[in-house]
Amino acid sequence: MNMTSFLKSRKSTREFKKKSVTEKDLVNVKAIIDEINDEVKGSNMEVKLYEFGKRIFDSLKGVGGYSGVMIESPHYIALDMKSHGPEEKLNSGYYMEKIVTRLNDMGIGTCWVGLNNLDMERMKAIFGEDTGDNDYLLAIGYPKPKNPFVHEQFSERLGVEEIAFRESIKKPADVDFLEERGLGDILFYIRFAPSSKNLQPWRFIVHDSNVELAIEEINGEFCYTDAGIAMYYFEELAKTQGMKHKWDLDMRPEEVKGKKYMFIGKYEL
Ligand SMILES: Cc1cc2nc3c(=O)[nH]c(=O)nc-3n(C[C@H](O)[C@H](O)[C@H](O)COP(=O)(O)O)c2cc1C
Repeated sequence: MNMTSFLKSRKSTREFKKKSVTEKDLVNVKAIIDEINDEVKGSNMEVKLYEFGKRIFDSLKGVGGYSGVMIESPHYIALDMKSHGPEEKLNSGYYMEKIVTRLNDMGIGTCWVGLNNLDMERMKAIFGEDTGDNDYLLAIGYPKPKNPFVHEQFSERLGVEEIAFRESIKKPADVDFLEERGLGDILFYIRFAPSSKNLQPWRFIVHDSNVELAIEEINGEFCYTDAGIAMYYFEELAKTQGMKHKWDLDMRPEEVKGKKYMFIGKYEL
């Protein structure tokens, strides 16, 4: 699916059909996972499919998800992380969301599920002795059909001028400026990216020759996973405008007007 239409309509699936994903679709899911594992080879990460979701759901009831509201799905995907630095977290967001878009093309719905700092002993009991320390799971399956008579809740998004800046994070960018720079569409649609608790911490600072990505500290935390998701969608949206660069990481903290930011990297224009 075209990336702009996908992002506009992208929604987490929290209600799945009870049935498993078909054998044929599972073969394709495994092929996607293999491809991503090839891409992340050597980076201390491994994507794993847990086919028997019931056992995972039962073990994580009251533990995983927002306030212990675990999402029930027939299968789960985990991204095993052997180390937990900011770069690994950025990568986990980037690659997990790449999987989300591929699954969406197959009609498979997804929802990120936080594991809320589950201790390693419990992690091993649930995911096996050789598991890494997972921050999140992806619940996957066929979405339950929507009831056309029930108005669906929409997750609010910040305005473009709240996430886009001109030269400095002190100076919001207006839509005309972004249009002139050919970034209007990219920064309009990127707002539909998912983020933990929908906190949308991403900030984009537009310079003459590049765009910088920073994340705002919210509730005492920098969510690097959210930044990785935004990096993935920025690159994909930029491709639709003929730009084929990748983000260069260049991390530094900065405090502006009492708010803490972590600058993550630059995308050359
Ligand atoms: C890193 C991350 C963690 C998330 N954790 C959960 C979770 O534990 N439970 C849940 O229901 N949704 C979770 N979500 C989904 C977000 O709440 C959701 O993407 C966001 O509110 C936007 O809503 P939408 O996906 O419906 O557009 C998570 C999303 C991300 C990116």
